[in-house]
Amino acid sequence: MSELTEWAYPLAESLLAEPLPRRWKHCLGVAERARSIARILGEDAELLEAAAVLHDIGYSPGLAKTGFHPLDGARYLRDVARADERVVNLVAHHSCAWMEAEARGLREELESKFPRDSPHLNDALCYCDMNTTPDGTPTNPIDRVNEIAGRYGPDSLIGTFIRRAEPEILASTSRVLERVATAKRQPM
Ligand SMILES: [Fe+2]
Repeated sequence: MSELTEWAYPLAESLLAEPLPRRWKHCLGVAERARSIARILGEDAELLEAAAVLHDIGYSPGLAKTGFHPLDGARYLRDVARADERVVNLVAHHSCAWMEAEARGLREELESKFPRDSPHLNDALCYCDMNTTPDGTPTNPIDRVNEIAGRYGPDSLIGTFIRRAEPEILASTSRVLERVATAKRQPM
């Protein structure tokens, strides 16, 4: 484990494991998916794994402020945990957060405070999240989007957001799959 992951796991665990055990299992699963694509990430592999295990801490009851979890999580990481800003920005923008932010009137707030800086890593985190069920087991992005829409209801804010985000989610995850396929064709 790197310094970054050694810091990230206990922090995420302390915020999620007890109040939200299912969400914690999801985060562990997303981190596992991150390890599975380490090869395409090179020296950013640990950065992605750290962001993966932390990506949903914004749901933790103690730090949920706006009710929009990417923003709440990123603010906590920036202001309280004083995290590496690349981790902060990945959490802020995970899985097309800007679209949900727009629906909540928080897009300006999100994008002005947290730059979306690495498309490659944003794709990778989206891939990991969208290939993991709420219980942390592997799935695929189509089933994952359907599960979210079903869970929140198709007409809910999140149900509407996830349908609108679906093309971007699928584009993002297929870019990652292409990188994985290319990496497999190359010698280690
Ligand atoms: Fe999330």
